Amino acid sequence: MRAVGYGADRADDSPSCLIDLHLPEPQPGPSDLLVQVEAVAINPVDAKVRRRETPAPGAVRVLGWDCAGTVLALGEDVTGFAVGDAVWYAGALQRPGCNSERHVVDHQLVGHRPAGWSVAEAAALPLTAITAWELLFERLRLPSHSAATAPQTLLVVGAAGGVGSMLVQLARALTPLTVVGTASREASRRWLAQLGVEHVIDHHRPLAPQLEALALPPVRAAISLTHSGSHYAALVDLLAPQGALALIDDPDPRQIDVLALKRKSLSLHWELMFTRSLYQTPDMAEQGRILERVAELASAGRVRSTLQHCPGPITAAQLRRAHGWIESGAAMGKLVLEGWG
Ligand SMILES: NC(=O)c1ccc[n+]([C@@H]2O[C@H](COP(=O)([O-])OP(=O)(O)OC[C@H]3O[C@@H](n4cnc5c(N)ncnc54)[C@H](OP(=O)(O)O)[C@@H]3O)[C@@H](O)[C@H]2O)c1
Repeated sequence: MRAVGYGADRADDSPSCLIDLHLPEPQPGPSDLLVQVEAVAINPVDAKVRRRETPAPGAVRVLGWDCAGTVLALGEDVTGFAVGDAVWYAGALQRPGCNSERHVVDHQLVGHRPAGWSVAEAAALPLTAITAWELLFERLRLPSHSAATAPQTLLVVGAAGGVGSMLVQLARALTPLTVVGTASREASRRWLAQLGVEHVIDHHRPLAPQLEALALPPVRAAISLTHSGSHYAALVDLLAPQGALALIDDPDPRQIDVLALKRKSLSLHWELMFTRSLYQTPDMAEQGRILERVAELASAGRVRSTLQHCPGPITAAQLRRAHGWIESGAAMGKLVLEGWG
């Protein structure tokens, strides 16, 4: 089958940093689905893995952790899926990624795609939707619309990127909090407006005075999605007492002063959407359930796809360009590649 991956030569400027491959067909284990991959999205984790992991001599590593496809076969322990089901998932970091024509994935990590969405629209979502959901409802435990709570604000730093574009939608759809997103460019501000975010401030200017000018309820929670080291001190300053701060990126630990949280009794939360699959936690199937719930919201028109670009099929050349786009730090929503050329 066709696939895209990399070997020992993975320097950014090398044409072989990602290469077209022919690999043996994968075989599903007892808990796996065998999936025909139809579209994949690109995430910062793809470029991070390519930079940090060198395959053994002669071996290759296949990247890709956002897939929309169709079930071709089932392992003997699989329940809840049938051959022909249209599915979406992020998968597991310790297994080969989905940049291959056929792919095996533990069925517990998989959901059914939203009805009425194209395969490219669907491929944009799984990894960022799971991250956003786990942040909002499992790490921060934000209240739902039905809860009686005093008015509060959620601040999302880096809101127009892949994760932010899903997070602001889920927060608006499912929580009573006022959502403020940060964006620095005219295009990213416009994108946030399209996602329904009413309040946008600029992460390249001091955050607190911009928030004060908006005169919103206290900031109960701040989610910093990117460049968190440079925003950390400002977020600690602007959070309301007993508030919560959540991080997902890889800040310089010297910029994350936990003692600064003490005076206001602030809590700090980490989210890594691969934790469940990495550690095979007993609740791993929750990721499949999250994807089913997001698909319901999507089918009902309560969240929209974050797809921004679909420049072509899944090839090494397209993926090299896509890695460049994601590493530019100026992504809005998601880039998806569809089909095998
Ligand atoms: N832990 C997890 O489970 C998990 C899951 C997904 C992603 N991640 C990590 O989270 C990070 C964000 O992922 P992503 O996919 O959302 O990234 P992304 O799509 O590449 O983020 C791009 C956004 O970052 C904003 N940005 C650029 N410079 C900024 C700054 N100085 N301050 C604040 N925002 C800035 C940009 O806004 P403007 O263009 O408006 O400036 C742009 O919209 C990455 O490090 C990724 O690896 C972690």
